[in-house]
Amino acid sequence: MPRWTVHNLDEYCMPLGTTVHLLAQWLSSSRPPSSPGRKGNTSLLLTPLPVSIALPQDRSAIRDMGRIAALLAACAVAIGYFFHLNQAQSSAAAVGKSTMRAVHHAEYGAVSDVLRMSDMPVPTYRSWEVVVEVNDASINPVDYKIIQGAFFLIDFLLPHRPGFDFSGIVRAVGKDCARIRVGDVVHGMAWVHKTGSLAEYLAVDESVINVVPEGMSSQEAAAMPLVAHTSFSSLVTVGGLRRGSHQKVLVLGGSSATGMMALQISKAYGAASVVTTCSPHNEALVKSLGADKALNYRDQDIFERMRATGTSFDIIYDTVGAGLSVWEGAASGVLAPGGQFVTITGDVQRTLDLQDLLTRGYQIVTRKLYCLLALGGAGYHQYTQPGGNAAELAVLDRLVEEGALKAVVDRSYEFSLEQIQSRGRTHSFAYLQAGHARGKVVVRVRG
Ligand SMILES: NC(=O)c1ccc[n+]([C@@H]2O[C@H](COP(=O)([O-])OP(=O)(O)OC[C@H]3O[C@@H](n4cnc5c(N)ncnc54)[C@H](OP(=O)(O)O)[C@@H]3O)[C@@H](O)[C@H]2O)c1
Repeated sequence: MPRWTVHNLDEYCMPLGTTVHLLAQWLSSSRPPSSPGRKGNTSLLLTPLPVSIALPQDRSAIRDMGRIAALLAACAVAIGYFFHLNQAQSSAAAVGKSTMRAVHHAEYGAVSDVLRMSDMPVPTYRSWEVVVEVNDASINPVDYKIIQGAFFLIDFLLPHRPGFDFSGIVRAVGKDCARIRVGDVVHGMAWVHKTGSLAEYLAVDESVINVVPEGMSSQEAAAMPLVAHTSFSSLVTVGGLRRGSHQKVLVLGGSSATGMMALQISKAYGAASVVTTCSPHNEALVKSLGADKALNYRDQDIFERMRATGTSFDIIYDTVGAGLSVWEGAASGVLAPGGQFVTITGDVQRTLDLQDLLTRGYQIVTRKLYCLLALGGAGYHQYTQPGGNAAELAVLDRLVEEGALKAVVDRSYEFSLEQIQSRGRTHSFAYLQAGHARGKVVVRVRG
């Protein structure tokens, strides 16, 4: 059966954007558009997919707008009441001080221009949150992309505190937290709207953290969550990797932090063969992490040679966004019938503006159709990992305990503004942005 998995924001963009646009058009006209041949209903084609919604024709737009406003007001009251019941409390008493050092920015721009480190109040926390004293944080490309203002959809986040990944000690727990206790050493990945691990303390949902597995260093614990969640979800949840099913997996970018996780997860799940692309100088590294074969990504004819030798894969996982040629190569027979193509970058890594969003929406829909019709029910996915969850982290932590998964730390930096954001290539964000890291970049917050 073809899989129409819609797990992520990107895949909603086009249908959602089109719906909002059409709804706005409809509400702004005095009479709803009519559809000849259909009484009382107007059918709007949302996407090239056969999806339609029926809108009533015999009510005034103003009355409907009133209803929408009433609904929104009711939602606002309900949300307000919910937050009233769960008022945030200060962590000052629990952590023994009222201020902390934290990295933040109040405008979008180059990391070296806009990032600041200041004293600010220690976090408040709600009943479902814990306060973690951060030992180590790790940074990811998404951090500098947000700082640069690459995602217009989350512009509202300013002022913003970067840092998804962390490890540290729990200093306070909300009254509804049942799993995690004060004193636990934990790690996890914050959700996109609640980041801020480049700080001495972080308030974070209990539902995204776990106790750090025995024997895992604090740096490794901070290095793992975002890239492990992303690759696990891409391969297992979206890509359909199953334990013991002897699938063939191609990881594009085995030396990337996400790629390294993918190689190990594929091996741990018993993939029949794990092939990857990387530079020749990273071949030994990727093979030590589970790759059976490493191909030089600078060779132009990788997919042609695969086609010529009849090589195909059940899952192709793209972590690098190496261009349209990758999709074309995959679609020309290298993705096995019924296989899954999952990319976490799209064709190229670029700023997500409105035009990009529409282009991606168009690509997603047309490529899904192509996979379905021409590649025997295969799947195409642009996957986005918005945040972690403890259940998935537990699966990943079990792999760590079994010795099947480890986080590779490339470099670590001190918790100072100079070390984090300076212009030189030797500093954390600059090093990551150069695009040649061989593992995770960690910031030692609590030296
Ligand atoms: N959608 C999501 O939820 C999600 C989640 C995580 C990451 N991402 C995105 O995924 C991308 C990778 O993230 P990351 O943290 O894994 O990156 P990373 O660790 O910084 O990637 C750097 C590595 O990629 C290798 N590389 C660069 N271009 C390559 C190519 N064309 N083919 C093969 N290898 C190549 C580099 O090798 P050389 O030094 O040999 O060039 C280097 O080892 C980023 O764009 C990130 O924003 C998306």
